[in-house]
Formats: sequence, structure tokens, C-alpha cells
Amino acid sequence: MKETSSIAFVPIYFLLTLLLSIPFLLFLSYCSSITTKNPERFSSETSLGLKIRPGYKTYESYIQRQLNKTLNLKLREIWRTRDWDRKIQVFTRFFGELKQKKLLSNDSKALSIGARMGQEVEALKRVGVSDSIGMDLVPSPPLVVEGDFHNQPFEDGTFDFEFSNVFDHALYPEKFVGEIERTMKPGGVCVLHVSVNKRADKYSANDLYSVEPLKKLFKRSNLVHVRTVDGFGLDTEVAFRKKKAI
Ligand SMILES: C[S@@+](CC[C@H](N)C(=O)[O-])C[C@H]1O[C@@H](n2cnc3c(N)ncnc32)[C@H](O)[C@@H]1O
Ligand SMILES: *[C@@H]1O[C@H](CO)[C@@H](O)[C@H](O)[C@H]1NC(C)=O
Ligand SMILES: *[C@@H]1O[C@H](CO)[C@@H](O)[C@H](O)[C@H]1NC(C)=O
Repeated sequence: MKETSSIAFVPIYFLLTLLLSIPFLLFLSYCSSITTKNPERFSSETSLGLKIRPGYKTYESYIQRQLNKTLNLKLREIWRTRDWDRKIQVFTRFFGELKQKKLLSNDSKALSIGARMGQEVEALKRVGVSDSIGMDLVPSPPLVVEGDFHNQPFEDGTFDFEFSNVFDHALYPEKFVGEIERTMKPGGVCVLHVSVNKRADKYSANDLYSVEPLKKLFKRSNLVHVRTVDGFGLDTEVAFRKKKAI
């Protein structure tokens, strides 16, 4: 008969535990709903030192905003004339330095990502890297072909060298870097010019506060160097080499 009283308590304890756990369960479901709606915003790579700018409601609106500036006829005229030689000179110095550091050679098959009019491609050719091509949302023949850096129009393992100064325009940094690592040959070198000390322009899609997020994003590469540069508002050069084996 003693047992009956203790058995009667079991359902009460059970109910009590259940009731107390409801707020906790609600909290858990809230957390999982925000992370599934916005996976980019909450992933570990992007939570520290790299922020995706809000305000691009659809991928289409992001692309339209990028095109708006790149297709501007008055600006294209300025880039083709006044800016042409000035930019080539600066890029020529950067690529010359990378050749001295043996990160680039005349034999390299090279890609410049987000090359717009192609000054950086012309500079690669002038330092002797003859097999060079640029890629941008807007083609600029013969130096720049059309392509989205979130989905590069190239086969796996195509390039020895990839350069870009448009990381800040990536809406999906994981894809931007993933595509570079996919299209580079094992042992290939990627050099990015980024801004970590001042905010990039109003067409940027992300803000980078240190090079740490880049080190995490380049999963299949080793860091080669980080150095200060003065490149059209971009202050930091980061170089990676893709690992030979996975
Ligand atoms: C600030 S401009 C830099 C142009 C060039 N690299 C230079 O220094 O003269 C950014 C370029 O990135 C391009 N861009 C933006 N989003 C892109 C995307 N998703 N795929 C390819 N290019 C993109 C734009 O069209 C634009 O030409
Ligand atoms: C594109 O630029 C024009 C003017 O240059 C502006 O009226 C329009 O709102 C812009 N569109 C986007 C998507 O930024
Ligand atoms: C690379 O090309 C440049 C420019 O054409 C040339 O001056 C240089 O001698 C070449 N270097 C090598 C190692 O062949």
C-alpha cells in the first residue's frame, strides 16, 4: 500500500517537467527558424569579421545593382580613356612584385575576377603573362569574358593564378572562394586585394573587418602572405596557394 502514493506522483512530476520544458523548446525552434531562413548571415565564417549587407532582397536585385554601375555609358567612357593607363601602371607594379615573389610567372594561365574593362588583364599581359583573361558580369572584348563569380564559367583546375579586387562585391563569399578553389589547379595561387581598414563603396555586398574570415573561407588552400598595399582604396593583399592534395 505504501507504493500507491509514490506511483501517483509520477504523472505529476512528468507533467511538471513537460510544462517547464515548453519555453525551452519554443526557444530552440525559434533559433533553428532564423538560421534556416538566413543561412549565410548566421554561418560561423561570416559571423566574425565579415558582414553581408542587408537590403538585397533577391539575387536579381543584387545583380541589377552591380550592372547599374558597370553598364553606365559615361563611366565606361572614363574607364576606357582617362583611367586606362593610370590603372594599368598600378596593376603592372603589383603583378611585377608577384612575379618577383615567384607567385606568378610568364607560363601561368591567369584569371582576373571582376575585371570590368580589363586593365588588370592588360597589365598581366604586359608583365609577360600572355595567357590571361578577365571575367565580369559585363564582357569587354577581347580582354574580359562574361561570367558570374558565384558560378564561374570554367572547368575545375583551369588556372595557375587568379586575382581579384572585388571580394567586397560578393553576396555569397563562400561561393566566391569556393569557385576560385574549384577552378584553380592544385598548387595554384590566388591573390585578393581587399579593404579591412576602411569601408568599401556603396555597391559592395559585404564588409570585411580582418583577414581572419578569408583564412577560414579558403578551406583547400594555405596562406602565403598578407601585406599592405595601396590599390584603388584597397589596403591589403592576401595570397593563398591551393593545396596539392585534399
Ligand atoms: C569596383 S569594380 C572593379 C573593377 C576592376 N577590377 C578594376 O579595378 O578596375 C567591381 C566589378 O565587379 C563586377 N561584379 C560585381 N558582381 C559580380 C559578379 N557577381 N560576378 C562577376 N563580376 C561582378 C562589377 O561588374 C564591376 O565591374
Ligand atoms: C540604376 O540607376 C538609375 C539611375 O542611374 C536609378 O534610377 C535606378 O534606381 C538604379 N537601379 C538600381 C537597381 O539600383
Ligand atoms: C617574361 O616576359 C617578359 C615580357 O615579355 C620578358 O621581358 C621576360 O624576359 C620573360 N621572362 C622569362 C623568365 O621568360
